[in-house]
Amino acid sequence: MNTKQLLEWSDKHLMAFTKRYPVALVRGEGVRVWDSDGKEYLDFTGGIAVTALGHNHPKVVGTIREQAATLLHVSNYFHIPQQIHLAKLLCEHSFADRVYFSNSGAEANETAIKLARKWAKEHGSSDRGDIISMRGGFHGRTLATVTATAQEKYHHGFEPLPGGFKYVPYNDLRALERAIDSRTAAVLVEPIQGEGGVIVPDEGYLPGLRKLCDEAGILLMLDEIQTGMGRTGRLWCYEHAGVTPDVMTVAKALANGVPIGATLATEDVGRVLTPGSHGSTFGGNPLATAVGLTVLSTMIEERLPERAARMGKLLRERLETVHRDYPKAIKEVRGRGLLVGVELVPPMADVIAGCRERGLLALTSGDNTLRLAPPLTVDEASVERAAQIIGQALAAVK
Ligand SMILES: Cc1ncc(COP(=O)(O)O)c(C=O)c1O
Repeated sequence: MNTKQLLEWSDKHLMAFTKRYPVALVRGEGVRVWDSDGKEYLDFTGGIAVTALGHNHPKVVGTIREQAATLLHVSNYFHIPQQIHLAKLLCEHSFADRVYFSNSGAEANETAIKLARKWAKEHGSSDRGDIISMRGGFHGRTLATVTATAQEKYHHGFEPLPGGFKYVPYNDLRALERAIDSRTAAVLVEPIQGEGGVIVPDEGYLPGLRKLCDEAGILLMLDEIQTGMGRTGRLWCYEHAGVTPDVMTVAKALANGVPIGATLATEDVGRVLTPGSHGSTFGGNPLATAVGLTVLSTMIEERLPERAARMGKLLRERLETVHRDYPKAIKEVRGRGLLVGVELVPPMADVIAGCRERGLLALTSGDNTLRLAPPLTVDEASVERAAQIIGQALAAVK
C-alpha cells in the first residue's frame, strides 16, 4: 500500500482529532522504525514514552505470542494469575499495597479521582471531594481527567465540565497552601510536567507537597504515567525526592505498548474500593498484565532505570554542546534521565520537520519545547546521532 493512498483514506475516514505527520510507520526494531516508503528513523518519541524496552523486544513479543495462544481475555469475575503477579511485583517495588488495573493513563487517573473522593467521604464530611491540580499539567482526555488538566485549550468546546476541580500554579507551594480548604480531598500532580514543556520543579517541591497534604489530612496523588517505569533514572520519579505518595498512576511504558493503566495506593486508600464500586471489562486482562509483568521484571533485572540515568546524562551533555553551537536557537536544555526537553527559539514545527527529514522522530511539548523520550535501551551511538541531527535541523532553520 503506498503512502499517498493511505493518507487519502486517513483524511476521508478517520476523525481528525490530532494533526498527524505525513508518515505511516510500519515496522520497528529497538530504537529504529521504518515508514511505508522504507525510510528509516531513530525513534526518540518512544510512542510518547511508551516503548521503554524498544520496538519488537524479543521478551515482549514472546510473552504476547505465548499469552495470546494460551488465554487472551477473561473477566475480572475470576482470579487472573498474571494480574496478581504484576500487582505483587508493583507493590514490592513501590510504596503501594494495592493496585487496580485499567486500560490507559486517563482511566488510571479517573480511578485515582474516584478513590480520593470515596476515601475523603470516609475520612471527613460528605461534601469533601475537590481535587487540586496544577496549571500546565496533563492528566488525560476523559471528562474528569481533562478537567483535572488545567489547560483551557483542552477544555474548549467540551463544556459543561464536571465540578470539584481547582487549579494552582505548578511549583508554587504557597499557592497550594492557600487553595486547600475543608472541601479538598487530594492533590493530583506530575513530578515532572511532561506534556506541559518538560518542567522540572524545584528540589523541595515534592517534599513540600507531602508536608502540606499531611498537615491538611488530604491525599498526595502522583501522576507518574509519563515519568514512571524508569524514565527519569529511577523506577519512580518520586524516589528522587525521598517522599512517597498515597496514590500513584502508571500506564504508558508498563506494557511497552499493550494498552494498560494501573492505580497504586496505600492500604488505607486502596481498601475503599469494595466489590461493585468500580470496574472495567478489559482492565488487567491476562494479555496486558502478562506483558506488564515481563516489562517490569526486565526493567528491574536489567537495571534499565540506571541506564536511563546514564544515557540521559549523555544526551543532555550532547544537547548542551548543540546549545553552545547555536546559542540563539535554544533557550534551555532540561529534563531528568531520558525525559529531555529542548526549549527552542525557532518554531518547534520547523525543527521537528527538519529532524524528521534527517531521520529523527521527536515529540513536541508545551508551547515551543522539543521533547525526547527514546527507549531506555537506547545505545550511545544513537544518542550522539540524535543530538547531531538536532544541530543540523537548527542550522537549517536559523
Ligand atoms: C502525565 C500524563 N498523565 C496522563 C496521560 C493520559 O494517558 P492516556 O493517553 O494513556 O490516557 C498522559 C498522556 O500523555 C500523561 O503524559
